[in-house]
Amino acid sequence: MINGRIEWESEATFEQAADINAYAGGQKRSFAPIRSDVLRDVVEVVDHLREDVIGVESDALIGAHQIRVIAGDGVTGLPAPEGVHQDGFDIVATCVIGLTNVSGGVTTLTTDAAGQHVVAQESLGAREYAAFDDRALFHYVSPVNALVPGQTHRDVLVLTFTLI
Ligand SMILES: [Fe+2]
Repeated sequence: MINGRIEWESEATFEQAADINAYAGGQKRSFAPIRSDVLRDVVEVVDHLREDVIGVESDALIGAHQIRVIAGDGVTGLPAPEGVHQDGFDIVATCVIGLTNVSGGVTTLTTDAAGQHVVAQESLGAREYAAFDDRALFHYVSPVNALVPGQTHRDVLVLTFTLI
C-alpha cells in the first residue's frame, strides 16, 4: 500500500525466520492465487484498519494468506500448531471469513510467549477480525473440532503489515 492505494504483486512467496516460526520458519512457502471475492475482503479490511491501526500516512507491504483448517471425523484441526507465537510483522489482522460446523478456534492475545498474561480472548465469528501489534503481543488460536459429526472447516484470511 503506497499513498493509501493498494498495488498488487502478481506472485510472491512467504518466508518467516526460524526463530519466529519454529514450525515452518526458514521455508519459502507459495500459495494459490487469491480469488477476486477474497481480494475484495482484503480491500475492505485494509480500509477498516487504515485510519486507526495502520495510519493514513503510512505505507505498508501487505501479505494476504488464506488458511483453511479442516477437522472432523475424529480429527482435531490446529490453527496454530506452533503454539503461542508472533508472526514477525508490525501488524497482523486475523479475519475469519467462514466457519462450517466449528467448535473451538478461540483467538487469544497475550503479552508473553508463555501465554500467561492474556489481554484479549475471543471466539471470532464469520466476518469478524482481530488486528494487533505483532511486535508487542503474542497470539494463539485453540484447536478446532466438529460441533456435530461431519465436515468441519475454519477459513481465515491473515493479513500481515510491514510498515515501510
Ligand atoms: Fe500467527
